[in-house]
Amino acid sequence: MLYEGKAKKVYTTEDPDVLIVSYKDDATAFNGLKKGTIVGKGAINNRMTNFVFKKLEAKGVPTHLVEELNDRETAVKKVEIVPLEVIIRNYSAGSFAKKMGMEEGIMFACPTLEFSYKNDDLGDPFINDYYALALNLATKEEIEAITKYAFLVNEVLIEYFDTLNIDLIDFKIEFGRYHGQIILADEISPDTCRLWDKDTHEKLDKDRFRRDLGGVEDAYEEIFRRLGIQ
Ligand code: TMP
Repeated sequence: MLYEGKAKKVYTTEDPDVLIVSYKDDATAFNGLKKGTIVGKGAINNRMTNFVFKKLEAKGVPTHLVEELNDRETAVKKVEIVPLEVIIRNYSAGSFAKKMGMEEGIMFACPTLEFSYKNDDLGDPFINDYYALALNLATKEEIEAITKYAFLVNEVLIEYFDTLNIDLIDFKIEFGRYHGQIILADEISPDTCRLWDKDTHEKLDKDRFRRDLGGVEDAYEEIFRRLGIQ
């Protein structure tokens, strides 16, 4: 084992360019302050991420996906993670709604993009691209590639979730460096997206855990069911 994070374990393989990620059922929120288990989450997030990453690859977004090994484990390209959480928002929610004094669920005139500095000790503070450049977190070219891919991911996902009767409220993605290229890494799952049913506006994501709304496992299973992954 190379590393254990809050939601995944990472293992080395014989190939120095390939790692295995193993998705856990562990859930945390508020920078690890709240801890729990979401039964079946690991398998759902693993399989959903791979399913979505394949769709994104087909639309021109390079990803770290190599091969799904089983329900919980996937072989991925070994990247150096760019220490930026890249957040795209289409509707007000979460920290945005709080900061701007808005109710949740207001559609924006256009999507927003923001960065957080990936640093648990600091609580992942909000930064802009000038901070990222000044602190050598990424180069200008890398930030341009990340921005371009992030908006493309948003376009592809909005359109796809629409077919599942789901509004993509917002999401967080991470990128890595692989032999000089920027590629999409980490995961895209109900842990990292806000997904609301279009008709009922029911939350089908990790906010059910963060906010003690109940029906957490059911929400993850509902997303998985709508994806129709075989
Ligand atoms: P926020 O509204 O709390 O800033 O969250 C924006 C999006 O980012 C939301 O879809 C949840 C996701 N997210 C993560 O994936 N990891 C995190 O640590 C946080 C705070 C948010």
